[in-house]
Amino acid sequence: MDRFLRIALAKGRIALQTVELFESIGINCGPLKEETRKLIIRDPASMTEFILVKPKDVAKYVERGAVDMGVVGRDTLLEQQPDLYEVLDLKVGRCRMVVAGPKSPGDTSNRAVKVVATKYPVTARKYFREKGESIQVVKLDGSVELAPLVGLSHVIVDLVETGRTLEENGLVILEEICPVSARLVVNRVSLKMENERITRMLKALRQVLRKAV
Ligand code: PRP
Repeated sequence: MDRFLRIALAKGRIALQTVELFESIGINCGPLKEETRKLIIRDPASMTEFILVKPKDVAKYVERGAVDMGVVGRDTLLEQQPDLYEVLDLKVGRCRMVVAGPKSPGDTSNRAVKVVATKYPVTARKYFREKGESIQVVKLDGSVELAPLVGLSHVIVDLVETGRTLEENGLVILEEICPVSARLVVNRVSLKMENERITRMLKALRQVLRKAV
């Protein structure tokens, strides 16, 4: 065990829950438990090193081998289709990918193409293509719920966790696309080179997750 095993964590929403999981298998996450501006955090005792990146960048670090493993939402994996192994559902950051829109949509029957605003163009296109519906996608970077309210789109494809954002903006779920949660992903080469350590970590995480259910 002469090198640090590197793990990329997504900053934000699911970071704290993910850290709790790693702590519960004996990895000291130190400053990750509080608010920190540090981007690299090491636990020499377990030879683990965490790096903190934007959620959308996790898969890039893993895919290119800059880190051995990463924690990333299923939403991002579906959208980016990265070349890596998805090895474990960490059951945190649970939410749903949905189609949502106004409670009482205006008459759109005369319009041939439904306009969909989303941060997830690949996922949205795939979903509607499989339903045989032709759509036009407007790619946004956030506050997607606004789009149907101001006439930018008819509906949105977005994540719903508590449902508060939809409710407070007078939108409702129209269709469920899929459940989403945080996934542990592994670089293809690392899984071979560090197989023993990674397998041990997976086993420990599975045990903790089983107890939590
Ligand atoms: C996410 C998502 C919804 C909201 C859902 O946005 O895109 O807007 O959370 O959560 P809720 O059902 O609990 O209200 P995020 O907070 O990441 O911000 P963004 O809109 O800027 O992307």
